[in-house]
Amino acid sequence: MNIEEARGRIAAAQRIVALTGSGISAESGIPTFRGPGGLWRNFRPEDLATPQAFRRDPQLVWEWYDWRRSLIAQANPNAGHIALAELEQRTPSFTLVTQNVDGLHARAGSVNVVRLHGDIWTLRCTRCERSWEDMRASLDPLPPICECGAMARPGVVWFGEPLPTREWNIAAQASHQSEVFLIIGTSAVVQPAASLAGVAQDAGAIVIEVNAAQTEISDWVDCHLEGNASEILPLLLAP
Ligand code: APR
Repeated sequence: MNIEEARGRIAAAQRIVALTGSGISAESGIPTFRGPGGLWRNFRPEDLATPQAFRRDPQLVWEWYDWRRSLIAQANPNAGHIALAELEQRTPSFTLVTQNVDGLHARAGSVNVVRLHGDIWTLRCTRCERSWEDMRASLDPLPPICECGAMARPGVVWFGEPLPTREWNIAAQASHQSEVFLIIGTSAVVQPAASLAGVAQDAGAIVIEVNAAQTEISDWVDCHLEGNASEILPLLLAP
């Protein structure tokens, strides 16, 4: 399927799901996880985004998140985020499912955003479970402390932790009911998020992938559009 056919299917669809990964925020200046620039002090995300790493060295894990928060604080939504927000306004049923924790979809105007991996601007107490939003680009003290006196953790989902049940159920049901499933800027290697494209296709949706490179799913999607999301999405999604 070429981009013109894909455009026609999107324009005619009543129910659309878009699944995004860090690639859609790359052009906003936020490094992806597995591409160039994804390392911090030579650590991989898999080394730091785990409950074990946090227990072992909360200061180190918090320094990584403080670095990412400061990067994100300087970032702005790009034309890819905005094109998705505009498509949502024109589509009877539109669900944006994101693996990203940077908040750029909401800042671009997306309303129905399902955050599978949480939100980097939310903190959660490790003892009383209270959670709150803290938009400071640089946290002091680090690690941040809850009102109850215990240490807070980032309000994100770490490797080995379950996805939030409510968000997962919404994402899975919307994918199953979708007519068009857009998968944008994700290497599609982290489960269970990556399985949603197969759920949609098995239920009869067409799957359109937008990625700067080939991925593990490129050979079975209905349409693979290769290039930068900020350039392709405005062309693909324009009315
Ligand atoms: N436009 C489109 N795609 C891009 C762009 C771009 N400008 N730049 C990079 N990409 C693509 C890469 O080709 C890659 O396929 O974005 C993808 C980024 O893949 P990852 O770095 O693996 O990020 P992601 O798929 O979001 O990771 C999933 O893994 O570390 C965990 O929780 C973290 O949510 C994250 C999850």
